[in-house]
Amino acid sequence: MSSNQDQRQYWTEAAPGWLAAERAFERVGAEPGDRALDKLAPAPGATALDVGCGSGGTTLELARKVGPTGAVVGVDIAEPLVEEARRRAADAGCNNVTFLAADAETDDFGGNRFAAVYSRFGVMFFADPVAAFANIRSAMADDGHLSFVAWQNVLANEWILVPVLAAASATGAVPSPPTPGQPGPFSLSDADRVHAILDEAGFRSIDIDPVADAVVFAEDEIPLMVEIASGAGPVAEALRDADDARRASVSQAIEDALRSRADRGQIELSRAVLLVSAHR
Ligand SMILES: C[S@@+](CC[C@H](N)C(=O)[O-])C[C@H]1O[C@@H](n2cnc3c(N)ncnc32)[C@H](O)[C@@H]1O
Repeated sequence: MSSNQDQRQYWTEAAPGWLAAERAFERVGAEPGDRALDKLAPAPGATALDVGCGSGGTTLELARKVGPTGAVVGVDIAEPLVEEARRRAADAGCNNVTFLAADAETDDFGGNRFAAVYSRFGVMFFADPVAAFANIRSAMADDGHLSFVAWQNVLANEWILVPVLAAASATGAVPSPPTPGQPGPFSLSDADRVHAILDEAGFRSIDIDPVADAVVFAEDEIPLMVEIASGAGPVAEALRDADDARRASVSQAIEDALRSRADRGQIELSRAVLLVSAHR
């Protein structure tokens, strides 16, 4: 059994909520993801890998970049997300992508294969990150390029911090703060740690670019923000077996917290990521 068995179970169970909220999540995650893709700049004809590809939106984007003479593999540990990704690729008539339900930490993707490896928030969930990045590296071509984006500290990401704390104020159950060593959305938030992991995994030319900005929502987008927070993570956990009354009180608490931040109809919440680039 893989050491990421609990992540497989978590993401398999979270898949319906994630899929329901992912359109909203795009509002926060798309721009940093695009920046990481710009850094990767895969050449037409290249062979690329998308790690933790979810429902495959970024995999299709990679496929467009490498064009019909290139090929892209999307890998994700959650079978329902991979099935959805396959459906979307078929609907888009995209035939230079394949999807694998696999653990990027332990599964063998073939040696010396990928010129470009990308991930949008899909590499923070490994039980043993050094082993995982070494495994990814072994699938890369000799001068292969890795580019991914990961969240900085939760305190610098109010778009999720504010709703999570608001939900906690309604349920009374405060989630334990994420620690850098623990698999989860904030496990690669520390640039020095990320550098050390990639170095130990054998990467060179490691470049880590911290980017901090803000996401600005209109006040009438508050329901969208409740959706983002409720899709996966601690708020989704708190709501898992909740009755309607509890759901309503959590949603209301999130709405109130966000509305209290509104200024002239706009809510500005901090967002901070690390753009990480490295070569094999
Ligand atoms: C936050 S989601 C991001 C999904 C997608 N990259 C996006 O931006 O929409 C993280 C993804 O990583 C996947 N994941 C977690 N651990 C993994 C592992 N060991 N191997 C492959 N995928 C993994 C999850 O199933 C999930 O789809």
